[in-house]
Amino acid sequence: MKKDQVSLTAMMAAYERGYHAKYDDPKIFNDFLAFELLLQRERTAFAQQFTKIVENCFPAKKFSGQEDALSFFMQNMSSTSDMISRARYAEDNLEETVKKQGVQQYLILGAGLDTFAFRRPDMGNQLRVFEVDHPATQLSKRQRIAELGWDNPLNLNFVPIDFTKDNLETAIKRSFYDSNALTFISWLGVTYYLPRDTVFATLRTIADSVPKGSSIIFDYYDADTFVPEKVASRMQGWKQYTKQAGEPIITGFEASNLAIDLASLGLRLRENLSPSEIEERYFQGRTDNYHATEHTHYAWVVVE
Ligand SMILES: C[S@@+](CC[C@H](N)C(=O)[O-])C[C@H]1O[C@@H](n2cnc3c(N)ncnc32)[C@H](O)[C@@H]1O
Repeated sequence: MKKDQVSLTAMMAAYERGYHAKYDDPKIFNDFLAFELLLQRERTAFAQQFTKIVENCFPAKKFSGQEDALSFFMQNMSSTSDMISRARYAEDNLEETVKKQGVQQYLILGAGLDTFAFRRPDMGNQLRVFEVDHPATQLSKRQRIAELGWDNPLNLNFVPIDFTKDNLETAIKRSFYDSNALTFISWLGVTYYLPRDTVFATLRTIADSVPKGSSIIFDYYDADTFVPEKVASRMQGWKQYTKQAGEPIITGFEASNLAIDLASLGLRLRENLSPSEIEERYFQGRTDNYHATEHTHYAWVVVE
């Protein structure tokens, strides 16, 4: 990401979580605050832009109006299903580790417009939350929170970092992070924007600096994402969109090699959900057209 650039994909993820919370039923993930973090004109701009994409791609298709076209885009062309199911996966497992292991800290890497600390005041006494994000995106979010008049919860800490330049351990040590307290880390919607070396260097730092038994959950794209004959058309469209937004998708992993790569860092791959497992867990039985996307996997990794 460029130095002063606010992440457009973070705003888009918030739009898609907010859209799902407002318009879809049943809900996979209810981020009822996401829309509030976007200005009305930003929501309108996304809706217009997405509608235009649908109209350009399907000129012969008849829609009953903008709402219909937008709903088609969200279900069939966007990565909304990723945004909502990855958040659900992370927060379900966070709750489980808090209950079963007594996790006390939640590190949200590349937090974007994540609303966890505001949405879950009920967990405020149990969890210290650290939003770790690129300085430009984090500053813009903090300004938005101030404009909205939201009070920052007492358990919320902001840690600015550029993963490609700064060391995560150094950054969190400057905050109230307690390196002896069991930690849960989510890293959602970020690994594919970073160079492979940066992803592994960050995971190595985590392995060396958080207590054993701590968890990291991240999503990643598989290697087929980068093979022209194998990449799904929805992913191809998403790659073009993110490239134009200045946040190109550059990194993916071979699902079958991940356990070995992580073991060399002192990390155990506890779970590695494939697209079909994500489909079965979150999308089975829905009557709309949300489905797990073709190249996305969810990894749950434990520090050993
Ligand atoms: C698609 S958003 C994901 C936001 C959020 N985790 C979600 O799931 O909605 C990508 C996030 O990665 C962050 N990011 C991208 N490159 C980064 C870098 N080099 N250093 C720090 N953060 C970065 C962006 O600022 C943005 O918040």
